[in-house]
Amino acid sequence: MTKDAWEEEGFAKSWDAVNAARDNPDRANQLDLLITLLEGMGPDDGWLLDLGSGSGQVETLIFERMPHARVVCLDNSEEMLKLASGRLSAYDGRYQQILGDMNDLEVVEFPHTPYSAVFSSQALHEIPHESKQAVYQKVYGLLHSRGVFYILDRIEPRFDDLRDEYECVWNRLNRRTDAPMTFNEYRERYDSKEDYPASLDEQLGWLKAAGFLAAPLYLHFNRALIAARKP
Ligand SMILES: C[S@@+](CC[C@H](N)C(=O)[O-])C[C@H]1O[C@@H](n2cnc3c(N)ncnc32)[C@H](O)[C@@H]1O
Repeated sequence: MTKDAWEEEGFAKSWDAVNAARDNPDRANQLDLLITLLEGMGPDDGWLLDLGSGSGQVETLIFERMPHARVVCLDNSEEMLKLASGRLSAYDGRYQQILGDMNDLEVVEFPHTPYSAVFSSQALHEIPHESKQAVYQKVYGLLHSRGVFYILDRIEPRFDDLRDEYECVWNRLNRRTDAPMTFNEYRERYDSKEDYPASLDEQLGWLKAAGFLAAPLYLHFNRALIAARKP
């Protein structure tokens, strides 16, 4: 089993340049949905929080589309935060980076709390289930009342149970891709990864246990966007 090497410059750069889209051919659509939800909150004086913010691809879209938005960006990879600083140089003052570990948010001092929205894109599968549950409880405490938590992430697939159907949908997702990975390559890559995608039911159960109202708004192949609201 191999763990993604976010701390290595080469790995970080290659994910940023190629693999973000190659591993997830519908990523642009998913991010559009996430940002449409954030836009739908309307202008706000507060800051947003991004957990596992990476190389700043999501913030670029947010800053282009939401002229008032400001984002606290938490990640535990200095290489990814460095890539983000380069990408976001035109947006000084609109983001604040924190080098922090989602496995231990209790030691993090969060600026600009409480938040009206917290979000996380393609990052929560990196931490074990117990940590995810602790993150959901922490996020609940960081939000305003009626604040929202949007989770876009890879969920646990059932490749063994429904192999042909997964292959069919993977090929359909890649029908406009120039050099797609075959389904077998994709499977091998993910079967050998040391990470922790949870099932949709588990995610919804943990969010509800933390006090959120929660529902999935998007589910395609092994990707989901879950919306949760603090009542
Ligand atoms: C697949 S990238 C997604 C980046 C960004 N959210 C996006 O969608 O473009 C996953 C990110 O999670 C970060 N990450 C992984 N484990 C983490 C942890 N324990 N605490 C904080 N960040 C973590 C990685 O460094 C990486 O930047």
